[in-house]
Amino acid sequence: MKVSFVDFKREWKMFNKKFVLAFKKFGQSGVYVLGPEVEKFENNFAKFCGYKYAVGVSTGLSALEMILRSYDIKCGDEVITVANSAVATSLAISNVGAKPVFCDVGDDFLIDVDKIEKLITKKTKAILPVHLFGKICNIEKINIIAKKNKLFIIEDACQAHGANFNGASAIHTKAFSFYPTKNLGALGEGGMIVTNDLKIKEFVSSYRNYGQQGRYNHMIKGTNGRIDPLQCVLMGVKLEKLSEFINIRQRIAKKYIDKLKGLNNLLINDYNQNSAYHLFVVRVLSGQRDYLKKFLEEKGIDVLLHYPTTIHHQQCYVEEYKKINLDNTDKFQNEILSLPCYPFLKSKEQDYIIKMIKTFFSK
Ligand SMILES: Cc1ncc(COP(=O)(O)O)c(C=O)c1O
Repeated sequence: MKVSFVDFKREWKMFNKKFVLAFKKFGQSGVYVLGPEVEKFENNFAKFCGYKYAVGVSTGLSALEMILRSYDIKCGDEVITVANSAVATSLAISNVGAKPVFCDVGDDFLIDVDKIEKLITKKTKAILPVHLFGKICNIEKINIIAKKNKLFIIEDACQAHGANFNGASAIHTKAFSFYPTKNLGALGEGGMIVTNDLKIKEFVSSYRNYGQQGRYNHMIKGTNGRIDPLQCVLMGVKLEKLSEFINIRQRIAKKYIDKLKGLNNLLINDYNQNSAYHLFVVRVLSGQRDYLKKFLEEKGIDVLLHYPTTIHHQQCYVEEYKKINLDNTDKFQNEILSLPCYPFLKSKEQDYIIKMIKTFFSK
């Protein structure tokens, strides 16, 4: 059996009639840059996330970058984040001229809150936790540290649409990505910031649009980081199904956990009902990860690594960070394996994956 990691053709089959209707309406509207469709999607996404404001931008990277800029984080500043994330998390910090300071992660793959404080210096301006794989960081604890040290918190929620952010997290400005594989993905690219802070909303609304406030009135040196209204129209169709899709992801995750628990050399986190399960990542111990990966691939199952090379080992960062120790981050890099987990995964496909993993470990 062939099992894909994701299969966009299945998604297309479900939505295509609605997509085509929405596209026709969009074409007839004659408004192809920003405009009412963008505003409608922003309002609906803000509501979905329980926030006052949302501003659509071109990518998740630009969302993170613009939030950093809105706090005036720049050259000479430091931002504490993690090295096991998409490289975009750090690029956003580097792109505004600041320095990413990497904190190690805990067994849950998320920022280890007990290791944050010792990284704080006079230059630290913000903590940028990443809700990796759709799992929620310990924001209560991060709030306490940030308050004590007068730091901003910027949340990278690019993998966490539909996660159950608890009250402590609901107050911070968050960045989302609409890269096609995300829990809410565009048929192209897109990103969004959600915030309750009117000043940040106004800054990002202007910055994404050449720094304009009113036509041809450029108040700040901005960029063209606008979201594409066609993507807003298409994602508006998908947003209606997002809660249902998160439930399916959670069901898939629970089944993996129930059926795979107790296997020697396979470590799985407990089921967490707050997680949006963007990715389902296990740890394979005793140096067996690459063998399991190869075995599953030979059986026709697509598996991936998130991420095969952590940020501090990437060519573009390695020189700067060759002296830092991130024990868990480094260890997990050789153990992690992402199994297919998306709303269109068929039950018989998941049964096959589980059977093949059990076969591997029974050998
Ligand atoms: C955790 C995380 N942060 C940031 C990004 C950047 O998003 P985008 O690809 O839309 O720029 C991604 C997406 O890959 C991500 O997974």
